[in-house]
Amino acid sequence: MRVLGIETSCDESGVAVYDGERGLMAHVLHSQVDAHAVYGGVVPELASRDHIRKLAPLVREALAAADCGPTDIDGVAYTAGPGLVGALLVGASLGRSLAWAWGVPSLGVHHMEGHLLAPLLEDDPPEFPFLALLVSGGHSQLVAVEGLGRYQTVGQSIDDAAGEAFDKTAKLLGLPYPGGPALAELAETGTARFDFPRPLTRKPGLDFSFSGLKTAVAYALQKAEPSPTLKADIARSFEEAVVDTLVLKCRRAIRQTGLRRLVIAGGVGANRRLRRAMAAMCEAQDASLHFPRPEFCTDNGAMIAFAGYCRLRAGEVTPPGISARARWRL
Ligand code: KG4
Ligand code: ZN
Repeated sequence: MRVLGIETSCDESGVAVYDGERGLMAHVLHSQVDAHAVYGGVVPELASRDHIRKLAPLVREALAAADCGPTDIDGVAYTAGPGLVGALLVGASLGRSLAWAWGVPSLGVHHMEGHLLAPLLEDDPPEFPFLALLVSGGHSQLVAVEGLGRYQTVGQSIDDAAGEAFDKTAKLLGLPYPGGPALAELAETGTARFDFPRPLTRKPGLDFSFSGLKTAVAYALQKAEPSPTLKADIARSFEEAVVDTLVLKCRRAIRQTGLRRLVIAGGVGANRRLRRAMAAMCEAQDASLHFPRPEFCTDNGAMIAFAGYCRLRAGEVTPPGISARARWRL
C-alpha cells in the first residue's frame, strides 16, 4: 500500500509518499518561517493563504520525487487536527479532493499521532509498547503507547507547552521567531549561572508546568547587572532548566510504568542538549532511546504519510465530508 501524506496544521506545508514495502519514497517541505518572522509569530490567515499557494505544487513535486503518478497511490492521509483550523482545512480539502478524484480512501490523521509514530520511520524503530515524550509548540505530553491507537496520557503540561516556553522566553530575550532554535543557539555561548526553577519536580507525578520559568526569566532580565553575556547566560540557564525537568519526568515515567523504551518527538526533540541528556539518562536506566531525525522532529509530511499508512492499512477510513479540529485529544 502506498499513501500520500499532507501536513498543514501550522506554518509548514509538508507532503510525502510512504510505501509499505519500500518505506519513505519522497518527502518535501515548504517552511513559511520567513513570512511570519516579520510579525514575530504565526499569523493564521497568512498561513492558510500560503498553504493554498504551495500545496498543489508540493504534491506534484512529491509524486515526481517518488517517481509515481496518481494511479500508484492507494490512499491519502492529511492532518485533521489539532492546529490552526484555516490551515488544516487547506490540507483536508486538497487531500479529500485528490482521494475522491483518484478513487482511493482518505483519512484524517491526528497531528500528535504523526509526531509520536515518527521515530518508527528510522532504521532502528522501537517496538510497542513504549513511552513517548511529545514536546512541540502546542503540546507537552508523556504517553504510554501500547500499540497503534492505544495511547494513555500519563502526564501533560498544566500550562504552557515546552516549545511555547522556548518561544516566549526567546521573545523576552529579543530573539527572532522561531524562538526555540534561536534560543538554543544563543545558549551554546552562555553559562548556566541563573538558578531557574525545575517546576513540579519536587512533587510526585508526571505533569509539567513551564509558565513560571518564563516569569523567572523576565525577573532575571530586569534585576541582573547588564553584561555582554547576560542574554546568553539566561538562555543557557533556561535551556538547562527545561532539559533537567524533562529528563527528570521521563526518568520517573520509566520507573513508574516499567516501560524501557523511550521515544522523544515533536519540535523540541530537535534540541541537542535535550538529546544528549536523554541519552545519558536512558543509559543509566538501561532503557533504549529513539528519536526521529531532527527534520522529522519538527512538522513534516512524512510522519502524516506514515501514520496514515498504518491506519489505512488497518482498514480505517474517514467518512466523506471535509472537517478539521482545532482541539482534539490524542
Ligand atoms: O512540532 P513542531 O514543529 O510544531 C508543533 O506541532 O508545534 O514544534 C515547534 C516547536 C516550537 O516551539 C519551536 O520553538 C520548538 O519546537 N523547537 C525547538 C528547537 N527546534 C524547534 N525548541 C528548542 N530547541 C530546538 N532546537
Ligand atoms: Zn507538530
